[in-house]
Amino acid sequence: MVTPPNRAQSLFDLTGRVALVTGGAGLLGYHHGAILAAAGAHVVLLDLAVANPQMRAEQLTKEHGPECLGLAVDITDEASLESARDALLEKFGRIDILINNAANNPKVEDQKPGQPWSRLENFPLATWNADIAVGLTGAFLCSRIFGHEMVKRGSGVILNVASDLAVIAPDQRLYRQEGLPDDQQPVKPVTYSVVKTALLGLTRYLSTYWVAQGVRVNAISPGGVFNGQPDEFTAKLHALIPMARMAHKDEYQGAVLFLCSDASSYMTGQNLIVDGGRSVL
Ligand SMILES: NC(=O)c1ccc[n+]([C@@H]2O[C@H](COP(=O)([O-])OP(=O)(O)OC[C@H]3O[C@@H](n4cnc5c(N)ncnc54)[C@H](O)[C@@H]3O)[C@@H](O)[C@H]2O)c1
Repeated sequence: MVTPPNRAQSLFDLTGRVALVTGGAGLLGYHHGAILAAAGAHVVLLDLAVANPQMRAEQLTKEHGPECLGLAVDITDEASLESARDALLEKFGRIDILINNAANNPKVEDQKPGQPWSRLENFPLATWNADIAVGLTGAFLCSRIFGHEMVKRGSGVILNVASDLAVIAPDQRLYRQEGLPDDQQPVKPVTYSVVKTALLGLTRYLSTYWVAQGVRVNAISPGGVFNGQPDEFTAKLHALIPMARMAHKDEYQGAVLFLCSDASSYMTGQNLIVDGGRSVL
């Protein structure tokens, strides 16, 4: 006799569901995919060919069991997204979950002295357009194209990955480099704040737009993840975080699983801030 799953298991169970993660071959996207696969979902990693989503999806299948797929897709390109939708509908027949995770993440610390492109006064229009195209227009296109499939089936979940910088301003003192004049100091780019804040607007809009069709839409606002940043930077950041540390790269998995599963069935249009307490100060 098969024992029925208990309530705690069934709330988080994703067996048979199909979950898409944009930017799924990146640092965090892969971990978001991994927890959904561990909960039983077929995970589809959508990422640029250069990030090798196929290889990362094979790794997911090997580690977690349900068949996962990696598709080379540019989320700013409608035709590329439509082909991905057709391919994965043919393969799995349904779309249940979409995580809009892809974004341009230029490393502020990589800026060369004397070339402070990130400063507002120098910020190139081409960079503005490219950052908005991936982080915001890409999320809009994916929501439109994949969300529509959820609407047709009468259920689904969209999760937009924002940031603590969707709810607070960047503290530009974090990026200061000794010995550089003020007008040469690197800063967190304006597009990061704009894209992440706009995603909260997209979240609220979609949450009521599709509420009657059974599609829930929420956002998560993660704080910074430790990924080998220099000690000088992390020491300054730790001082701004009540928990006095950055996140581990798998530390958003609990919140992501909660937001993508029936455990959050009465939640829509919200932004879950997971930032070690940084934004409460
Ligand atoms: N890492 C952090 O500290 C942190 C903190 C808060 C929020 N976030 C957010 O989490 C998300 C993931 O961050 P990450 O650290 O994993 O970044 P990452 O750069 O490792 O991953 C981003 C992925 O998006 C992909 N991508 C870029 N343009 C694309 C396009 N046009 N089409 C398809 N894929 C594209 C990249 O190839 C990459 O794999 C981002 O939205 C980021 O802003 C990250």
